[in-house]
Amino acid sequence: MKNAGYSENVIELYRDKVNVGVIENPDVNLAHTGPCGDTMKIYLRISDDDVVEDAKFQYLGCPGAASSGSAITRIVKHKTLEEAKKINEQDILQDLGGLPESKLHCPTLAVTTLQKAIAKYKERKRTP
Ligand code: FES
Repeated sequence: MKNAGYSENVIELYRDKVNVGVIENPDVNLAHTGPCGDTMKIYLRISDDDVVEDAKFQYLGCPGAASSGSAITRIVKHKTLEEAKKINEQDILQDLGGLPESKLHCPTLAVTTLQKAIAKYKERKRTP
């Protein structure tokens, strides 16, 4: 992976599978497939006052997707849903210490999946 241009930080997240897994009975989960064909599924535990208490993810895809999933689930913990909605690709790239040129689109998969999960949660909350 080092030869492919991945940073030490990315390699560590990938090796340690940080936040990879499922949350049993999550408040919301959502899977999304990006234009590249990679898929991510995000699980969130959300408190009554709309704070993300826990986040995990599963993925079918590249190390860029995996490390972006680890980064976004790490960043989103303890944030309100309003704050979580503002997480963007730059936040992930900053957390990761960058990605190889050909993998710069991978954070978009994580951001889109999280945004869709939040939207699904809010929609469900509106319609009891
Ligand atoms: Fe699709 Fe990385 S190549 S998310």
